[in-house]
Amino acid sequence: MGSKVSRQRKRQSNSPSKKMDAKKVIPSSPVNSTASEKYHTVSSSSYWLAKDNEEQDRLMGQHFAVKEGFGGNVLPKVLEVVRFDAGTKCLDVGCGPGTWCLDMATEYPECQIYGVDMSDIFPEAIRPPNTHFMQANVLEGLPFEDNTFDFVQARLLVAALKVEQWPLVIKEYLRVLKPGGILQMLEPDYKETGGGASLKLVQTVIKLCHMRGQNPHIGADLARLMEEAGLTILENRYSTIDHSEDTKLAAEWIWDWCYFAKVTCEVIGPVVGVSQEDYPQFLKDIESSMKEYHFTTHGYCVVGQKSS
Ligand SMILES: C[S@@+](CC[C@H](N)C(=O)[O-])C[C@H]1O[C@@H](n2cnc3c(N)ncnc32)[C@H](O)[C@@H]1O
Repeated sequence: MGSKVSRQRKRQSNSPSKKMDAKKVIPSSPVNSTASEKYHTVSSSSYWLAKDNEEQDRLMGQHFAVKEGFGGNVLPKVLEVVRFDAGTKCLDVGCGPGTWCLDMATEYPECQIYGVDMSDIFPEAIRPPNTHFMQANVLEGLPFEDNTFDFVQARLLVAALKVEQWPLVIKEYLRVLKPGGILQMLEPDYKETGGGASLKLVQTVIKLCHMRGQNPHIGADLARLMEEAGLTILENRYSTIDHSEDTKLAAEWIWDWCYFAKVTCEVIGPVVGVSQEDYPQFLKDIESSMKEYHFTTHGYCVVGQKSS
């Protein structure tokens, strides 16, 4: 299933091959796009990740690592409440290349799956007929009527939202959810783990978030924020991956971090203090130090229900 979605996207992209094998695909040199091609120019947004083909490939690969880490596209409690049959409407806010939407649309062909993103990086040509993508900035309000969706998901917006924006966007998710509808949010909690280059990388990510008024530990705060917004928490799942383990999932996460460091080199390099010239070695050191120093990735997925 997952590989089918990846192949659909791949036909629309001329970006390099992406497979879930860290040994084969960790890039060895920084890219050379100009900042204006690679990064968004939405003035109200603090988002600092790239939006080019390479970043989209990373997000597609990351989707399958996240899915495996949390045991599916939705947590078990969601399946007890949402039927995902004909008439069910789902929304993914900040959908990126739309991989979750495509995966869900294939798994639940009767459902209508909507994805919105402030950058138009979602698939337009090859996609299941029950998917709908729109360009929209959640900070300016979602382009939907009140009480439209049975299920809303918002995932991996840690580098997109300032601390004070989280309650506002959760309120907006609640507005478009039907009474009794379900909100699923999934975010990391960046911790200073590992050693060597891997520790430097995560410290830089934490610093970049703080520099933009963002919360690098937002995953650990999701349940509180959702409760304060009036949702009833149905499930709060924590996942941690030790990157030194000899598993496919650990290799996928090493691939993701290294690819992330490569794609975002213009942002990370100056803050971590590594020159363009030394960056390829830094990327290699990230991979080896993740294994050597037991680097760990931490994330939370929280499910809440809107009152009926
Ligand atoms: C790290 S990516 C995650 C993509 C997707 N949710 C996933 O899990 O693969 C964050 C996405 O959020 C989008 N984004 C950032 N700020 C946004 C905003 N204010 N409104 C809508 N989308 C936004 C970015 O363009 C990017 O595609």
